[in-house]
Amino acid sequence: MEEQQLRSAGWFGRTGKDGFIYRAWMKKQGIPSYEFSGKPVIGICNTWSELTPCNSHFRQLAEFVKKGVLEAGGFPVEFPVMSLGETLMKPTAMLYRNLASMDVEESIRANPLDGVVLLCGCDKTTPSLVMGACSVNLPTIVVSGGPMLTGRHKGKSISTSDLWRFSEEVRSGHMTNEQMMLAEAGMCRSDGHCAVMGTASTMACMVESLGLSLPHNAAIPAPDAARKVLAQLSGIEIVNMVKKNLKLSDILTREAFENAIKINAAIGGSTNFVLHLLAIAGRIGVPLSIEDFDRFSQGIPLIANLQPSGLYFMEDFYYAGGLPVVIKELLPQLHNDCITVNGKTIKENFEGVECYNGDVITSVEKPFNTTSGIVVLKGNICEEGAVLKPSAASIRLMQHTGKAVVFEDIDDYKHKINDEELDVDENSVLILKNVGPKGYPGMPEVGNMGLPAKLLAKGVTDMVRISDGRMSGTGFGTVVLHVSPEAAAGGTLAIIQDGDEITLDVEKRLLQVHLSDEEIARRKQSKNVQVTMAERGYVYLYQTHVEQAHLGADLDFLKGSSGSEVTRDSH
Ligand code: FES
Ligand code: MG
Repeated sequence: MEEQQLRSAGWFGRTGKDGFIYRAWMKKQGIPSYEFSGKPVIGICNTWSELTPCNSHFRQLAEFVKKGVLEAGGFPVEFPVMSLGETLMKPTAMLYRNLASMDVEESIRANPLDGVVLLCGCDKTTPSLVMGACSVNLPTIVVSGGPMLTGRHKGKSISTSDLWRFSEEVRSGHMTNEQMMLAEAGMCRSDGHCAVMGTASTMACMVESLGLSLPHNAAIPAPDAARKVLAQLSGIEIVNMVKKNLKLSDILTREAFENAIKINAAIGGSTNFVLHLLAIAGRIGVPLSIEDFDRFSQGIPLIANLQPSGLYFMEDFYYAGGLPVVIKELLPQLHNDCITVNGKTIKENFEGVECYNGDVITSVEKPFNTTSGIVVLKGNICEEGAVLKPSAASIRLMQHTGKAVVFEDIDDYKHKINDEELDVDENSVLILKNVGPKGYPGMPEVGNMGLPAKLLAKGVTDMVRISDGRMSGTGFGTVVLHVSPEAAAGGTLAIIQDGDEITLDVEKRLLQVHLSDEEIARRKQSKNVQVTMAERGYVYLYQTHVEQAHLGADLDFLKGSSGSEVTRDSH
């Protein structure tokens, strides 16, 4: 070991009253004195919760991390942080991403830790933990919980993406509610996060692409024994990282972010990737803009055939060789010398891997789709940007002009969408306002709003939809999301009225309402944008400080890092 003073020595290496206090209470857990004699102290940051079912196997996973830490001569200490369950939390788990990140940041900094293992799974648990850890910048490794096994229902494979289809089938009268309920037990039949390339899988791929995890972290299914092995190996690796003082900022370079954007394009990753990667870059201090997502996606084809952009499931992805195969295939277009947690470059990690199933992962030469990635639109509706995922959209709607059908907020939408009298046809453009960060608040996943019931009954399956909200990574459709500035922040979206003509032109990256600047200014002046502000508590803090979507929707005062040093003692 290098002659480097461990951070934890500032607690456990002390003499006198302070050292006594720092050690004595820890000893009540049955810890012998030699554990405090200069071993790297490794925090295992656990998002286990029965309210986050995707992470409910994490207590067991943590045991395997501990085995690895002990084996490598470290001292493991597990601690809980706020856990964000995507499915249960109202009004949306996204509202709490920044809060959880604060919990993670302060828990790491305040405690005698030399390195950290982040146990991440369900959508928001990954970005919140990585964001918080970046604001401290210790040696850090991510262990994801892994995807669930593929769902099975009536002899067929099903997943979260089918949920959206089932729901439309019920509304169009092609399925009964009872039939839909039968699919519930078959869809989620093991530990793990959503089984397609939704946001959780996108996030797991993001950390592997950035070099923050060991290879294969993204795709090994949660119940697979290899996931436990990966956890144990990560426990060993974090001790090495502490010895080498390999910190997050050494790995998270501008080049690593560019690689992650390209890899996300090739796998058809979620639009939520944009928000979370921007927020992470903001914490570690790497300049990254929303335009970078479009720029670096260019020329990257879709080579992973995974739902919702393709056919297969995360389990199939792993059996085909997983993310390492995608990275290997893209190596000629990536920065090859980006360092990863194991001290090796991405080239060293991935150049030798093999693909086992060409139906699931193909080559750059023969892609599943030449369009991929995330398109960033600009125009008078979204001066700061909006996003669209072309691989999940309909080609015939990529260039489309239609009349706006406006919903002022989510309640207005729910009230009107099934109304037979609603003046809407398949060429209309559905506009949903006030589902942005500040307006909802928290930017929920309602952007892929269900289509009007009467059009569903006619067999319409997609329409252009525009909002300042988000979409589930498992969702699909010609859906324009993250419109910035949002309606509640005085964006042009707020003044769009029924019947206004809207043009979406993906090739030109254009999203426009056909109104003169004068008319827009006139309407903005006469429109009194009202935001219902929380009067107290975290939601008040959030609404007061949240940044717009094109900046990553972090709280303005959380940007950057405060380092790991704490100079004062507690007694
Ligand atoms: Fe947790 Fe999809 S709900 S990953
Ligand atoms: Mg989600």
